[in-house]
Amino acid sequence: MGRNKTFLVTGGGGQLGRAFARLLPDAHVLGRSELDISDPAAVERTLQSVQPDYLINAAAYTAVDKAEEEPDEAHRINVGAVIGLARAAKAVDAQLVHFSSDYVYKGNRPGGYSENDRTVPLSTYGRTKLQGEVAARSAGARTLILRTSWVFGQGNNFVRSIVGAAAKLDELQVVDDQRGRPTYAPDLAEGVLALIDAGADGLYNLTGGGRVASWADVAETAIEAAGLEVAVQRVSTEQYYASKTGPIATRPLNSELDCSRAQQLGVTLRPWEDAVTEFVAELMEESD
Ligand SMILES: NC(=O)c1ccc[n+]([C@@H]2O[C@H](COP(=O)([O-])OP(=O)(O)OC[C@H]3O[C@@H](n4cnc5c(N)ncnc54)[C@H](OP(=O)(O)O)[C@@H]3O)[C@@H](O)[C@H]2O)c1
Repeated sequence: MGRNKTFLVTGGGGQLGRAFARLLPDAHVLGRSELDISDPAAVERTLQSVQPDYLINAAAYTAVDKAEEEPDEAHRINVGAVIGLARAAKAVDAQLVHFSSDYVYKGNRPGGYSENDRTVPLSTYGRTKLQGEVAARSAGARTLILRTSWVFGQGNNFVRSIVGAAAKLDELQVVDDQRGRPTYAPDLAEGVLALIDAGADGLYNLTGGGRVASWADVAETAIEAAGLEVAVQRVSTEQYYASKTGPIATRPLNSELDCSRAQQLGVTLRPWEDAVTEFVAELMEESD
């Protein structure tokens, strides 16, 4: 169903934007230089011209630590701009597909967080993502909002950094007390289209499948997939950041999202371990 509809994707240069571009060759995928989502007149003009059935907002302010220093800028993109997108979507009767984060939760208890659990963001970024959900709903457009976690794909991300560092160093210090599930951007994009096909609206958690893991576990999986032999020294968040300078956002220790609402519509993403292995194999081919 969804594939013969008209899709407009913002943030086309980001990890998720690029994944949608690959999956939807006929979609209008616009990078920041083609459509700045914080320019409401440009957003309105573009939507009136394209008349999409679905407006997929893959654009966001995602610099988690930097947001502590520039909260107004994070708010401008993650909240203010989303109000403009919601109004423009409503005007052309498009469904607004928008992305939120595990960082809306406090993450201080075990078990997976479901969509109905209390949200207590610990950082500026997390607060703007939560307010962005409200912004997406503010104009009465139909919405599909996905909370996801630990995204990796084409672009800068943890898995890429670890493989790059492991190629140069003998030992890596990696945080072992934050737990969650990585999400491969192409898998997330596919899952979103499956939810659209299933007629989903409202709020859904959607992350990679597989075991709940720490960043150190993810690093070991990536290093093994790269065929490298590098020791991972497991450290606490506190130990890891002790030597760092600059603003550090507080992150939830438990980022596990319960994705059973999406599962009930038949949508699950493959285990993150398989996705990391595939992604790292691609990275190694690129570097040959
Ligand atoms: N990455 C994660 O681990 C993670 C985890 C949970 C949730 N999420 C959410 O998932 C979504 C996709 O994230 P991602 O990993 O694909 O992020 P990403 O790779 O950082 O991509 C975000 C894109 O948005 C663009 N952008 C920023 N401001 C813009 C503006 N005013 N107009 C147009 N484009 C703009 C950025 O362009 P520039 O590069 O030019 O700034 C970038 O290309 C976001 O909503 C994010 O909050 C991500």
